[in-house]
Amino acid sequence: MSAPPPANPSTLYQEALATFAELLSQAQAAGDPEPTAMTLATTEGERVSARVVLLKGVDERGFRFFTNYMSDKGRQLAAEPRAALCFHWKTLRHGVQVRVEGAVEPLSAAESDAYFATRARGSQLGAWASLQSRPLVDHAAFEARLAEVDERFAGAPVPRPPHWGGFVVRPERIEFWYGADFRLHERQLYVREAGSWRRGMLFP
Ligand SMILES: Cc1cc2nc3c(=O)[nH]c(=O)nc-3n(C[C@H](O)[C@H](O)[C@H](O)COP(=O)(O)O)c2cc1C
Repeated sequence: MSAPPPANPSTLYQEALATFAELLSQAQAAGDPEPTAMTLATTEGERVSARVVLLKGVDERGFRFFTNYMSDKGRQLAAEPRAALCFHWKTLRHGVQVRVEGAVEPLSAAESDAYFATRARGSQLGAWASLQSRPLVDHAAFEARLAEVDERFAGAPVPRPPHWGGFVVRPERIEFWYGADFRLHERQLYVREAGSWRRGMLFP
């Protein structure tokens, strides 16, 4: 009997994205308080940094989030444009973890503008006022900056600051970890190699 034809690489990627979307919607339905929260890991030479950001969309291009481009993560991603993401949904089954690794690209100015326009005015002003990741002497200094931008944009729409926008993580590796009793967890891995996707399992 001849071997089955290789799966279409994009079909496997679609399958991984569909699995991700289904799990995210299950986590939302299960009442997870922050289902889109994901740990984002970046590097800077020998320094490795991790923090939580919110997922703001997934499509074939990848996983999107928004931040300050001058923050630690923004500078790190400009210099070393690779990242890992990690979701953990405790409310699903015996716990589900999704890990994503890939190259990172900034979103276009138009894409960042479009998302910025949907944010609450307070968040828009915060994006102007916060020198994210830089030392802050006291909270009054931040409040003074907020008051200044509030006055500057009084009665007008708040434009996107040039130092604020989105990134997309373009997956090269997506792993679904399904918790099970006795640590007999199931790990399903999708990896892109030489331009095509393959699927396999890992020991827990
Ligand atoms: C639940 C949660 C969601 C967050 N979402 C974002 C986000 O979407 N974008 C962002 O820049 N920071 C977000 N933060 C703050 C980051 O964790 C981090 O403190 C900040 O971005 C500065 O990180 P950096 O100094 O490594 O650049 C979030 C924090 C939490 C706890």
